Amino acid sequence: MTALLEVDNLVKHFVADRNLFGRPRAFVKAVDGVSFAVEAGETLALVGESGCGKSTVSRLVLRLIEADSGSVRFEGRDLAALNADELRAFRRKAQIIFQDPYASLNPRMTVGQILTEPLVLHELVPSARRRERVEELLRVVGLEPRFARRYPHEFSGGQRQRIAIARALAVEPRLIICDEPVSALDVSIRSQILNLLRDLQLRLGLAYIFVSHDLAVVKHIADRVAVMNLGTIVETADAQSLFSAPHHPYSRALLSAIPVPKPHAKRGRIVLQGEMPSALNPPSGCRFHTRCPHVVARCRSEQPALVADAAGHATACHRVAELPPAEAILPHDGAFSPVLEKLVAAFSGGTEGAGKFGVDTVAATPRAT
Ligand SMILES: Nc1ncnc2c1ncn2[C@@H]1O[C@H](COP(=O)(O)OP(=O)(O)OP(=O)(O)O)[C@@H](O)[C@H]1O
Ligand code: SF4
Ligand SMILES: [Mg+2]
Repeated sequence: MTALLEVDNLVKHFVADRNLFGRPRAFVKAVDGVSFAVEAGETLALVGESGCGKSTVSRLVLRLIEADSGSVRFEGRDLAALNADELRAFRRKAQIIFQDPYASLNPRMTVGQILTEPLVLHELVPSARRRERVEELLRVVGLEPRFARRYPHEFSGGQRQRIAIARALAVEPRLIICDEPVSALDVSIRSQILNLLRDLQLRLGLAYIFVSHDLAVVKHIADRVAVMNLGTIVETADAQSLFSAPHHPYSRALLSAIPVPKPHAKRGRIVLQGEMPSALNPPSGCRFHTRCPHVVARCRSEQPALVADAAGHATACHRVAELPPAEAILPHDGAFSPVLEKLVAAFSGGTEGAGKFGVDTVAATPRAT
C-alpha cells in the first residue's frame, strides 16, 4: 500500500552569504538528505533541537518553498509534477498549524470571516450554507458558534489555537502539519489542545506531522518518531520503541534530559559537551561527533547511513551494535516530568465527545491576552 506522504532524500541549502558579485559563498545546510513516510491516519513526530531543520522540512513538504533536490509524493503523486490546479487541490488536502496562533490569524477579520475564507477559496460549500458550516467548525473544536462574530484578540491563546485548527479543518484535509502547536500555551491548555488533535484524528482519520523540540509532549501523541540533528534524521522508530529503547546517542541524550519527578528514581543524565554546531558549517562524517561520548576515528570522516533493524527501528550510527543498553539512561519506573505526568493524566480521560476535551472551559466570556 502506498503511504499518504513519501519524502525521499530531501535537500534544502539556504544561501547565507554572497561575494561582491552576488555569487553564493556560504550555505546553511538546513535539510540535508531527509527521507520518511507518513501513513493515512497516523502521527509522525519530528523532534530535535532548535535549528535542526524541522520547520524547513515542513515547508518543503507543503511546497511552500522549493527543494534543491529530492522528492515529496502525496497520495502517490510527485508534488514537483503538479500543475497549478493540482497544486491548489493538494494545498486543500495538506494544512499547517503554527506555534503562534495569533500571528497566523488576521487581526482585522472576525473568526467567521477567517473560517469562511478557505470555504470560498476552494469552493467547498454553497454560499447559503457557509454560515452553518462555520458554526459546525467552531463546535468541532469546542468553541461556541456565537464566537464567529468576534476578533482574534478577544480570545485566549488556547482558544486562538482552536480557531487555527478549525481553519485547517475547514478544507477537510488528510494531513495537518502541526509546527510546535502547543509550545506557546500554558501546560493546562496544552493537554486540551493535544487531546482535541487526537480526538479529531480518531474521528476524521487525519494524519499529522507533529513538529516539536519537546519529547515529553511527543511521547503521548506520536505513533512514530523521527529524531533530527543538523538537517538529517538520526533515528526513526515507532514511539513505543523509541521511548523505551532509544538507540542513537543523540536521542538518548534528548530523552535523558526529560526531568524525573521522583528525586530518588535512578537515572543517569547524559550531558552533551559543547554547543550545538552550526548548520552553516556542520561537522564532517557523523554530524553528532563533536558532542558524542562514543566517538571514534571513523565517525569524524564517514557519515553513517540510516539503517533499519528487523523491527523497522532505524539508526544512523556506526557503533549502534556496540553501545551500552538504553536502560541506563531511562527512568526505571517509567516516570517522567510533572509536565508529562499531567499530560498522561489528561490523555487517560477518554476520547468520546468534544465535551471531555476542555470545551466547558470556553463557555465563559473569552479573556483578552
Ligand atoms: N529562509 C532562510 N534563509 C536562511 N537560513 C534559513 C532560512 N530558514 C531557515 N534557515 C536556517 O535553517 C536552519 C533550520 O531552520 P528551521 O527553522 O528549519 O529549524 P527548526 O528545527 O524548525 O528550529 P526551531 O525549533 O527553532 O523552530 C537554521 O539554521 C535556520 O537559521
Ligand atoms: S556515528 Fe560515532 S559520533 Fe555518530 S553517534 Fe555513532 S558513535 Fe557517536
Ligand atoms: Mg521551527
